[in-house]
Amino acid sequence: MQTQTGTPPSRTDSLEIAIDSTRMTSELQTLSTFTSIEPSSKGTAVTRIVFTPDDMRARAWLKDLARSEGLTIREDAVGNTFFRWVGTEPDLSAVATGSHIDAIPHAGMYDGTVGVLGGLEAIRALKRSGARPRRSIELVLLTSEEPTRFGIGCLGSRLISGTINPDRADGLHGAQRGSEDETLAQVRTAAGFKGPLSTVRLPQGHYHAWVELHIEQGPLLEREGLLLGIVTAIAAPAGYRFTIEGIGGHAGALLMPDRRDALCAAAEIILSIESHTLATGAIDTVATVGICDVYPGAVNSVPSRVTLQVDIRDTDPARRESVMHAVRRDVVSIATCREVRISEALVNADNPATCSPHLVGVIDDVCRGDGITAKHMVSRAYHDSLFMARISPIVMIFIPCRGGVSHRPDEYASPADIARGTRVLAATLGKLASE
Ligand code: GLV
Ligand code: MN
Ligand code: MN
Repeated sequence: MQTQTGTPPSRTDSLEIAIDSTRMTSELQTLSTFTSIEPSSKGTAVTRIVFTPDDMRARAWLKDLARSEGLTIREDAVGNTFFRWVGTEPDLSAVATGSHIDAIPHAGMYDGTVGVLGGLEAIRALKRSGARPRRSIELVLLTSEEPTRFGIGCLGSRLISGTINPDRADGLHGAQRGSEDETLAQVRTAAGFKGPLSTVRLPQGHYHAWVELHIEQGPLLEREGLLLGIVTAIAAPAGYRFTIEGIGGHAGALLMPDRRDALCAAAEIILSIESHTLATGAIDTVATVGICDVYPGAVNSVPSRVTLQVDIRDTDPARRESVMHAVRRDVVSIATCREVRISEALVNADNPATCSPHLVGVIDDVCRGDGITAKHMVSRAYHDSLFMARISPIVMIFIPCRGGVSHRPDEYASPADIARGTRVLAATLGKLASE
């Protein structure tokens, strides 16, 4: 469904709200400098892995910004950080917004960061407008939305919502090559986040509402010439790890008929995943093998062990599972034919989330009042909102991004689109805080 109004903007709360787009652009640029890689010729390349010095510098900078706005700051045991503008009735459940600042290797500068700096600017804009919210408004920086360091995404929001066992989380090992020995417990403690992870959990109903602003990360808004997306549901992600063990040896001397090449078997698994995903015929079923770790990884050595990491998502978890069923049948025959051992480990299999019709309606009203053309849409990317939905009504606001590009240095959202999304966020938070 689309909300279209061709009429001039009517007076609404949001019209009183002015976004400082120049300041936001400059803050996004500053945040993008906390990165471990050089800017790329294709755009602004950012790598900011959770709890690295870059992440810690970014957090410190953000805390300074929030402090200068008079927001209270709380950090939990996994580094989720809560910046609160205390309302006139502080005992009421707060209205929350937030996102993440970690970035996968060689990513862009807008994924997550627009929601964090947008949340901060929304609060500042509401303050400038003279608003005095009844409910507190809280900006939340969530830890490790990206799965890069520990192999599983949305760590902070999973812990907040009780979706991952705290002991299992603390025992998660480094997922990057060479970092397998480190655990979350060690790394978070070294970063200064101490105490049991069980304390991170927040009760159902802790927030009155959760609203996340994010770039779309897809092409639909731009393609349809629409200014804003209102998310009605978030697709369900799952992650699996396949380990293939064959027999290694000398690349020249080991005869072809004698080979049990783990990488050749892995290649068949990858193609099986692709073909069963395509066979669903559903645009919402997507699967990716983004990590293929080959051991020993020498050009003149037959691969003896390969680890594949599979990311598969669907709006329909049953269809997602049917793809995995079909892949497993192929895995059995690949193992038999190639005489290799293949084991499968589940990393995560999550359910989709539905956004609150009330919150969708509030944003519809804000857009209508501002003459903004908005589209109701599904998020195929996952977000912390997927897990915040377990403790709070949620909704997301999407802004267009150029070419639908994300997780790449040429990811781009225009200052005008960012400012528009932020203004809608501010107006929405303002309305919800008065409920
Ligand atoms: C989040 O970054 C995702 O992979 O959807
Ligand atoms: Mn991302
Ligand atoms: Mn994101």
